[in-house]
Amino acid sequence: MDDSNFKAMADEIEGLLGIDRSRNAGLGFATKAVHGYGAFPDAAGSVSQPLYQTATFAHPALHRSTGFAYSRCGNPTVLELEDTIALLEGGCKALAYCSGMAAISSIVKLFEAGDVVLVSDDLYGGTHRLFQDVYAARYGIDFRSVDFSDLAAVESACAEADQIKAFFVETPTNPTMKVADIRALAELAHGRGALLIVDNTFLTCYFQRPFELGADLVIYSGTKYLCGHNDVICGFVVIRDEELIERVFMDYMSEGDALGPFDAWLMLRSLKTLTLRLDAQQQRAQEICTFLKGHPHVSRVLYVGDPDHPQYELSCAQSTGFGAMISFYTDSVERAERVLERVQLVTFAESLGGVESLITYPAVQTHGSIPAEIRERIGITDTLLRLSVGTEDAADLVADLDQALA
Ligand SMILES: Cc1ncc(COP(=O)(O)O)c(C=O)c1O
Repeated sequence: MDDSNFKAMADEIEGLLGIDRSRNAGLGFATKAVHGYGAFPDAAGSVSQPLYQTATFAHPALHRSTGFAYSRCGNPTVLELEDTIALLEGGCKALAYCSGMAAISSIVKLFEAGDVVLVSDDLYGGTHRLFQDVYAARYGIDFRSVDFSDLAAVESACAEADQIKAFFVETPTNPTMKVADIRALAELAHGRGALLIVDNTFLTCYFQRPFELGADLVIYSGTKYLCGHNDVICGFVVIRDEELIERVFMDYMSEGDALGPFDAWLMLRSLKTLTLRLDAQQQRAQEICTFLKGHPHVSRVLYVGDPDHPQYELSCAQSTGFGAMISFYTDSVERAERVLERVQLVTFAESLGGVESLITYPAVQTHGSIPAEIRERIGITDTLLRLSVGTEDAADLVADLDQALA
């Protein structure tokens, strides 16, 4: 088997295991999330997907294989996770990485020195650092920030550069919750021969389906909602059309940043409750948004499910849910700092998307690597707090925030 060629490998595994790729494709989203891709037959009849915790695989004979050779290039548990993510997202292939940053880094390798990539002006700080301090500074890729929620700004950024190879869009953005029109951006990108890449971490394919709106690649920090338990660091690249598979797969197995089997097994367990968790988190987020909007010490609330959000209509049109991320400004820096000290149930910690509610101080933590003048311009001030709403009782969360804000 040629394990540097994705198509050859996939065909061999499918042939050996008798996998039917259309299997489960017509089922509903929650059913797919619970049952997964379900390709690997298990003689013992395990209901939970077996964990293949192995680095290497025995070959039956020279030039014969089980479909697997070495876990950096392919492992049954990891493949089941990848195929389940591809099934849920509606892509032709997903690859699982050891972090969201590793997934993003692998996508940047599609570009070369001199290429221009338009990126959200309000990006996760780690993504900004990877783009600017690593790939722009050392490898000459030109990342230009643009407010993707403003289509006129995107058009003028397009008019200023010939070599635009991709748009890299977070929507909603982290942490100022700006929403971009994915369908309009796909038209603009494709009109220039560029790819549209969407970081779908905040809403996931349960609430937002970028491929159906024209995106070419979807990336994830799987650490967040897809995992949902704050216990795995993981990332995904999901590919819509077959033509990009070989290039992305070559980097994936050459660089060796594939997800390990045990983490893949935990992720498969997590996906089974994705819809339940997101519905519960969103319902609590709506209640907390209402509470924060009425609080005298909160000057502004940013939640895409709030009818006062500037892109509320767009969110209703292109997503089926609003998620559970809320950012809010307190009336003073001292109060923002005190909230972080006083919260008891809500945990002061970096990350988001899990069943435990977390609160973060973006200017210092998640976005600390972004230069102060850029932070100030896009609204990441010293009074901004970001809340990831978990599945605790809404009344308990409200009581905790209320005492912390008092
Ligand atoms: C929107 C978004 N994308 C990507 C990442 C990076 O993912 P990871 O922390 O899993 O490497 C993060 C991390 O917070 C994020 O919030």
